[in-house]
Amino acid sequence: MKKVYPFDKNLFFKINKLHKSYRFIIENYNKPFYLYSTEVIKFQYRNLRISFPGKVKFYYAQKSNPSKHILKTLSKMNAGCDTASLGEIKNALIADFKASEIMFSGPGKNKKELIFAIKNNVSLINVESFQELEEINGICIKENKIQKILLRINPHFDSNEKNKIIGGKGVSKFGVDIKEIPRIIKFINETKNIKLSGFHIFNSSQILNNKNIINNSKNVIELIKNICEKYFLNISIIDLGGGFGIPYSSEEKELDLKIISTGIKKIINDKKYKNFLKNIKLIFEPGRYISGMSGIYVTKVLYTKKSYNKNILITEGGINHLLRPALINQKHPIINLTALIEKRTKTESYKIAGPLCTALDEFDENCTLQESKPGDFLAILNAGAYGYTESMLQFLSHPLPEQKYLN
Ligand SMILES: Cc1ncc(COP(=O)(O)O)c(C=O)c1O
Repeated sequence: MKKVYPFDKNLFFKINKLHKSYRFIIENYNKPFYLYSTEVIKFQYRNLRISFPGKVKFYYAQKSNPSKHILKTLSKMNAGCDTASLGEIKNALIADFKASEIMFSGPGKNKKELIFAIKNNVSLINVESFQELEEINGICIKENKIQKILLRINPHFDSNEKNKIIGGKGVSKFGVDIKEIPRIIKFINETKNIKLSGFHIFNSSQILNNKNIINNSKNVIELIKNICEKYFLNISIIDLGGGFGIPYSSEEKELDLKIISTGIKKIINDKKYKNFLKNIKLIFEPGRYISGMSGIYVTKVLYTKKSYNKNILITEGGINHLLRPALINQKHPIINLTALIEKRTKTESYKIAGPLCTALDEFDENCTLQESKPGDFLAILNAGAYGYTESMLQFLSHPLPEQKYLN
């Protein structure tokens, strides 16, 4: 049998020094809830910032968690913000990100969203199709504006993504294929209202292999350098995407930012790229790396039962509150807070399933926990990214989970 997850080594508990006193988490339980820690957000962003040279800038991918406390924390730390909808741009502005620190991505930006972004001087729009470029140009002409853009490219390589999150290489709704570049550049050269500041490639998510991130970054830089040389382009930005992952089990290892940063510095100083990169700013746009470990989801065990000898825990909240386990089979570490408080030692393997009328509603089919009882509280860890806002909150009309904050 697997071991119980060593929760005291998890960043959420470590940073907040919660490994000894966590009883308060469950004391006022009213319904399932998320609990976030902005200290973890600060820790993760600071780690990124101090590990990489100043030439590298980080834009927080708001889609991973748009909580206003998280956004405010990051705007105060001078991060940039990667947005993907009108709502996200507004969230970023409300959280005091300057328009000059906001970037707007996404394959399906509608006219209203583009008008808002352009009128509000969002610094970069990441263009994902020829028609979008035409739309932006039309708006800019009407508004008498010049808009800086990054052209998002759908390359022939990726960082070896495991789960289908972005989808890796090949047919993709994201970005434009390389063969489209000539007509796009011709169009940009013929208009006064669009400035091509650089290129953007985001081709993978949840990467835990340091080398894959370095190699992907090198592939991106190599590709962009070739494009710039071929079309005589002078650019100032390359958005390398990133896909920085976090460990979701005790067997997975955390990324080593020092190794990644050393790899990136090596590329920057490589004589093949040095001159080309001299005046180019590099961007990463991490979401999960910053917010993933900042949140836990807490729910109550309603019933325990056995089916064909398998132990099952039925919880009050399910994938209506945290969808990723069903969506892409993303297992999270799960702990039984009550059993830990009561220092129970006997362990069992459990299938942990929610209250919904679908077999999809399952957090784990084989989770080792201390012996668990009705009324126990489970915490699903590393639930800070792609949790609350990505879930099926209305399904079966259960109450929404609360969102609470430490401190
Ligand atoms: C364009 C873009 N940037 C950034 C991200 C954030 O990815 P992650 O949370 O893996 O860092 C995503 C995720 O879907 C994305 O689509």
